[in-house]
Amino acid sequence: MWGGRAGALLRVWGLWPAGVPGRRLLSGDAASQTGSSSPRCWNCGGSESLERGDRFFCPHCRALQPPDPTRDHFSLMDCNRSFRVDTTKLQHRYQQLQRLVHPDFFSQRSQNEKDFSEKHSTLVNDAYKTLLAPLSRGLYLLKLHGVEIHEGTDYEMDRQFLMEIMEINEKLAEAQSEAAMKEIESIVRAKQKEFIDNVSRAFEQDDFEKAKEILTKMRYFSNVEEKIKLKKIPL
Ligand SMILES: *[C@@H]1O[C@H](CO)[C@@H](O)[C@H](O)[C@H]1NC(C)=O
Ligand SMILES: *[C@@H]1O[C@H](CO)[C@@H](O)[C@H](O)[C@H]1NC(C)=O
Repeated sequence: MWGGRAGALLRVWGLWPAGVPGRRLLSGDAASQTGSSSPRCWNCGGSESLERGDRFFCPHCRALQPPDPTRDHFSLMDCNRSFRVDTTKLQHRYQQLQRLVHPDFFSQRSQNEKDFSEKHSTLVNDAYKTLLAPLSRGLYLLKLHGVEIHEGTDYEMDRQFLMEIMEINEKLAEAQSEAAMKEIESIVRAKQKEFIDNVSRAFEQDDFEKAKEILTKMRYFSNVEEKIKLKKIPL
């Protein structure tokens, strides 16, 4: 089949998308863990709802609590669980959280709090990065809806799309001038913008299969973007 052969070709050329953030997406929110009874503060044992306030510190003794494994990136970053996020607000939230949990602020505190702050900090970075970039945000959102794109499975890409990807990769391989690179960059940027619009619409319509198809295509183009970056690094 053409699609299969093209897939094999792309793989041989190293053009097959791989290593896209995805596998670790849910590391921060092992949502399967059942948080049955309300958690107690590890320090003072207080059980009065830790849910109150900022959900990071015990309202009684102010000790930093461990990360809540049921909390997903959207909740952590105070965003609606939607493909559309306000990136300015996301940035503010990121800074706000780093001011709360950054390990530098816990150097004089207990070992427990030092450890928790490290964990929080990693999670916050992860959540921020994941939600900031449209591709990883889309893949994460899909995953929350139970849809995964498995790496290496030859998704049924249409022939026209694969041709397009191969052409653009050839163009990139042949590009010798700044102008040629600029042209390729602008093609890729325009394409990604279209994908982002389309995938937004798909998510709004809860059409996850459509979203999956578009995100798969976005992955190919992100791969091209990575190659452009590499090629631009002066040797
Ligand atoms: C989240 O969704 C609610 C209801 O749809 C809306 O009122 C609110 O403005 C949204 N918040 C953000 C940050 O987009
Ligand atoms: C975006 O959606 C429109 C309408 O469905 C379609 O014509 C267009 O080809 C899509 N763009 C991309 C880059 O897939």
